[in-house]
Amino acid sequence: MTKLIDGKIVAKEILDNLADEVLFLNKKPCLAVIIVGNDSASKIYVNLKKKKALELGFNSIVIELPEKTLEKDLIDKIEELNSDKNVNAILVQMPLPKHINPLKIIETISPQKDVDCFHPYNVGNISIGKKSYVYPCTPKGIIRLLEYYDIKIEGKHAVVIGRSNIVGRPLSQMLINENATVTLCHSKTKNLSEITKTADILISAVGKPNLVTENMVKDGVVIIDVGMNRLENGKLCGDVDFENVKDKASYITPVPGGVGPMTICSLMVNTYDLFKYQNSL
Ligand code: GUN
Repeated sequence: MTKLIDGKIVAKEILDNLADEVLFLNKKPCLAVIIVGNDSASKIYVNLKKKKALELGFNSIVIELPEKTLEKDLIDKIEELNSDKNVNAILVQMPLPKHINPLKIIETISPQKDVDCFHPYNVGNISIGKKSYVYPCTPKGIIRLLEYYDIKIEGKHAVVIGRSNIVGRPLSQMLINENATVTLCHSKTKNLSEITKTADILISAVGKPNLVTENMVKDGVVIIDVGMNRLENGKLCGDVDFENVKDKASYITPVPGGVGPMTICSLMVNTYDLFKYQNSL
């Protein structure tokens, strides 16, 4: 029997518990988000983050900067937030306008306030298996989902498709830290389906509808679909051909309602964890 992995239920449970804990604090955790330019999808994401932070009883700062903002001025703004004791977590919404180097921006954010876990210091800690005070949001959400459904990771063959800095690469490191055997596949991988057929846990984070089909997976596989694709008819779908793959899977995430709600949930947990770390709680 295939089980659906319900990210909405898991995220709600985590956030309800978090809201209860926040009630007992004498200071509020504060998340600051910077958005540069007019990208409409980014504006929607930033508003969602603000709404969720306020619902939890956090303070929320949103700084909107014009498209033409100079790299130097953005760096100055981040440095101001780095030294502001009332700000616990800083997020610079990506993508940035082309004239701004995202790596330089990420390196400017204090590692202790790096709520995305994009800073090389934090990425490096995870890659050497050191405990970190913050983990990348989507990979952290995926691991939480597996734990919630009691899906063992240790000793399993986890196949990750997609090598992005936001999902594929950090997730692979985190699965290694959980003692999985990990294969990371990408656009230049040969014989993709030969590899995916050996997966106990298959995670696709590419952004391509129907990339993973029924003949690419073995019976009993656990499927985690990170894809978020908008079809011409306006519907959202993942990377996995859900209808045909689901009967072979032991567990599968839907899109929407699987990994998506866990990403914003992890962002809030990270904000709280940074707050606790900074206040030695
Ligand atoms: N743009 C799309 N996803 C993300 C994310 O996780 N963090 C940031 N900072 N920008 C994004």
